[in-house]
Amino acid sequence: AAARASGVVDLDLPGPTISRHLYGHFAEHLGRCIYDGFFVGEDSDVPNEGGIRLDVVEALRAAGIPNLRWPGGCFADEYHWRDGVGPREERPRMVNSHWGDVVEDNSFGTHEFMALCELLGAEPYVSANVGSGTVHENADWVEYLTRADDSPMAALRRANGRDEPWSVRFWGLGNEPWGCGGGMRAEAYADLARTFGTYSRDHGGNELYRIAAGAAEADYRWTEVLMKALGHEIGGTRRTGHGTGTYQAVSFHYYTVPGPWEHKGSATDFDEDEYFRTMVEAQRLEGILSGHAAVMDAYDPQRRVGLVLDEWGAWYDVEPGTNPGFLFQQNSLRDALLAGLHFDAFHRHAERLVMANIAQTVNVLQSMVLTDGEAMVLTPTYHAFTMNRGHHDAARLPLAWRTAEPVRSVGGTDLTTLTATASTKDGAVLVSLTNLETSGGVDVELDLRGGAVGAPEATVLTAASTSAHNTVEQPDAVAPAAHEASVDGSVLRVHVPAHSFVTVRLPLA
Ligand code: AHR
Repeated sequence: AAARASGVVDLDLPGPTISRHLYGHFAEHLGRCIYDGFFVGEDSDVPNEGGIRLDVVEALRAAGIPNLRWPGGCFADEYHWRDGVGPREERPRMVNSHWGDVVEDNSFGTHEFMALCELLGAEPYVSANVGSGTVHENADWVEYLTRADDSPMAALRRANGRDEPWSVRFWGLGNEPWGCGGGMRAEAYADLARTFGTYSRDHGGNELYRIAAGAAEADYRWTEVLMKALGHEIGGTRRTGHGTGTYQAVSFHYYTVPGPWEHKGSATDFDEDEYFRTMVEAQRLEGILSGHAAVMDAYDPQRRVGLVLDEWGAWYDVEPGTNPGFLFQQNSLRDALLAGLHFDAFHRHAERLVMANIAQTVNVLQSMVLTDGEAMVLTPTYHAFTMNRGHHDAARLPLAWRTAEPVRSVGGTDLTTLTATASTKDGAVLVSLTNLETSGGVDVELDLRGGAVGAPEATVLTAASTSAHNTVEQPDAVAPAAHEASVDGSVLRVHVPAHSFVTVRLPLA
């Protein structure tokens, strides 16, 4: 018999907004993410607009992509934006030393990125070069992008074919400064972030939301140093609405790596033991979010400064026979379940977490889509994102279990195998449930109190095994399907099969 779980959702106690930016994306000049993935060039046989492939654009628009972080990653701190503007044939080349040691021809630069964001309907998140760039270079990039008058950088932009300034909100001050972004100590970086933040000006009506590059995983000290460095600026009046001061948010990165770095594990060839170890690693994120949030609460109890997880996802060994520097990996049902687990953690921290960006959108690490020449495959992770669209900018609803949460012991660590969150917007409720257990489903009963709901519409994402994945030959091996759910009075009943992700949408009566 299936396990049972019973809980309560309070429809009349809407909590914080789950920002759509928690469903954000990241695209680096790495392997086949930008070139081949997003950008094929105008002469390609792949249908494109200005060199940007339209199948990828259409898929990501359908998933409601809210933002796109670019150009890195580690690449960001070696990137000089002036090399990527002006006539393509005149753009200088450079070596992409982090990723495959390949020659970068800069054919995808600022104008191409902004055109991509416009096609996607996504907000740009630009990661500026702090590690090897200058304060001046950074300030010029902001001016180039966002200034309207005849300033030197606005004039250069016009000469390069774009009259109107773009609107850019998210501005990253470097990337992983403790590592590839400059090998800095937290104190040294905090000072640099203050300087770069100061000279990243608001031009005209464009208001930047500056994001200081943050910690690796559970390095709470890094977060503390960044918060301390803001000092009295927290709570000041220079910027209203967001945080205040020289930067308005701090970031951190968390990747799920099942094995040691030299042998992380295969994306598709794994046994049950490795599957559960992956989920234990993924589950660590929740505690790490709480840790960073607790440090920030001590300095900023009113939560003016945002927390940004601008790189997350599963990181496995590259697919056999592919360039180790290109980080190309398949994507299985396991990854969709990992995404479901992460989404719930994001929702539970919506008070502090303002953005999260999966690494990386196309052909790199935990991708949304994989391309192969003219073909494109939607991954299980893509489907999990799409099924959760209803949470974008919705109000979180309290969900509490009456029964003990199902737990499995994995090498001495407790893994909670059923996780769920709920939200409401536009006269409807969305409940998402992830069952990590492989040996059986769970019959879930949720008492939806404090309101009345209509007929449920449920969707399930599952497959015969956790390693099931989509290929060009079998693009729908893992695809969402309609699912049974019922409402009796206020009680929602839904079966959550073994290793599945289920969403239930209910109209409010
Ligand atoms: O996403 C791949 C790399 O992982 C990024 O460039 C870097 O920021 C992180 O270490």
